[in-house]
Amino acid sequence: MAFSMRYLDLKQKIRDVRMLAIQGIAKAGSGHPGASFSAAEIMGTLYFRKMKHDHLNPQWENRDYFINSKAHSAPGFYATLAVAGYFSDDEINDLRKLGSRLQGHPVRYSDEEKDHSVPGVEYSGGSEGIGLSVSIGIALANKLDKKKNRIYTLIGDGETNEGQVWEAAMAAPKFRLDNLVAILDRNRIQQDGFTEDIMPLDPMRDKWTSFNWNVIEIDGHKVEQIIDALNKTSSVQDKPTIIIANTIKGNGIKHMANVPQWHGKAPPNKHTPLLLEELDSEFLIAPSIIAGRRENYEEKVRAAERGGADIIHLDVMDGKFVPNITFFADTIKKLRHITSLPFDAHLMIENPLEHIDEYIDARCDIITVHAEACDENIFTQINHKLLSNGISPGIAINPSTDLPDWIYSHLQNIDVIIIMSVDPGFAGQKFVPQILPKMALTNKKLRESGFKGYIEADGGIDATTLQQVYDIGARILVAGNAVYGSTDIHAAIIQLKHTANVALERRLLEHATKLGIRVDWMKTRKHILIPLANELGIEEEFYAIKE
Ligand code: DX5
Ligand code: ZN
Repeated sequence: MAFSMRYLDLKQKIRDVRMLAIQGIAKAGSGHPGASFSAAEIMGTLYFRKMKHDHLNPQWENRDYFINSKAHSAPGFYATLAVAGYFSDDEINDLRKLGSRLQGHPVRYSDEEKDHSVPGVEYSGGSEGIGLSVSIGIALANKLDKKKNRIYTLIGDGETNEGQVWEAAMAAPKFRLDNLVAILDRNRIQQDGFTEDIMPLDPMRDKWTSFNWNVIEIDGHKVEQIIDALNKTSSVQDKPTIIIANTIKGNGIKHMANVPQWHGKAPPNKHTPLLLEELDSEFLIAPSIIAGRRENYEEKVRAAERGGADIIHLDVMDGKFVPNITFFADTIKKLRHITSLPFDAHLMIENPLEHIDEYIDARCDIITVHAEACDENIFTQINHKLLSNGISPGIAINPSTDLPDWIYSHLQNIDVIIIMSVDPGFAGQKFVPQILPKMALTNKKLRESGFKGYIEADGGIDATTLQQVYDIGARILVAGNAVYGSTDIHAAIIQLKHTANVALERRLLEHATKLGIRVDWMKTRKHILIPLANELGIEEEFYAIKE
């Protein structure tokens, strides 16, 4: 499934939401990180991609509605609204402060209450189990008004302990509310523990199906699956839809993930720089399917998906720009239907402008052209086409090329910059270490110039080189031979992710040392660090730390 809007831009906005939310919670000293982070992709995809809404005119009569029934995810919700432009990012520092607009549980906006509520909030939450009923009222009213808009409701799994949720579950199909979409944040943890211990909810899918809902089940952290599911709901008639989004409470901060105590506990303020660094270090593994044996590409895409790849890297070579021919847009088109994973097309071709429409048509999600194959004028035309089709634009440079100066005036419109670490043309070549200083410098310069997108490392990436490029800022990691040259593709991808994770933990530890909180950080992150203690060389240190 291709996106109606830019994939990498969406990912980056969701990263900003998490960063903003954690800052607010730490500063407030209370709030719900776990519940905010499990729903970050759901809320982000709704606000940044799917919903019809206008931050300049929140009461616009044709808007889609978002009802946040699990209102304790307020920090994530507020952060989403801020990133969507409803109010300024800085206001998150007022979270939960007396007299602030950002109360612990959001209050429905009204002009009379404008000092205690923010525009964009449609529902006053706090008491659990009510949001779905309210949504039914809104959905019915909109049907009566013959409006074409949609009502999206986020419900928590803990709150489905409430009887009222099941009354609403009976009512919505009775009224054939096909304008209503409930999204269940199925993170399996509620305030006091695991949902299945407190009040067993499974089989969730069967329950909603038997209440006559259209049920779709997805991984709630994969934006491509969320978009796919939301798109499917528009063709459903006479029934409401529920999307069961399987999520991880606290997703994004490893020591919070899946730990019940982080449902509603603030991290100490001194941890904030480390948490922000972790969130900013999220990476994507992109297997390049031209590598390895000459077996069919479909199987390679499937194997990458099974192994947990984040995106698929597609190396297009025309035999002119590079001395090799691989495949073209027709092949990509055939591969498109077998996966919802985003397609990252790397065009190593002459005259990219002449061919760009074919790759747009093949529904790639990211399209990168080479700086050596275009000038500013050509790039601008390509860029315009990509942006107007909701595709993430990229620019690539060879090991011996520097980023052209004109790129700096287009940074707002570029989502990814590929810095090649081999001369393009073939998979399985040796990593060129000379690119490391260039990558470090380019990354620094880009950040100083306000670049918010991704650096992609491509060529000769294996467990060792991955760590080097990751440490200097690469966040999309292409791996051809390291994945498909291996006998076990699944294990190879896990190995690459593991390497990046170890590199991150090492960096965070160093950062913690600089902040003077190393021991404290090691205690907080004990269950993440102990299994890695040997690799990180901190076993002795752990023995020395007495509880
Ligand atoms: C090189 C391609 C790379 C390459 C990746 O021209 O752009 O994507 O195939 O494969 P490895 O990781 O084997 O270098
Ligand atoms: Zn490539």
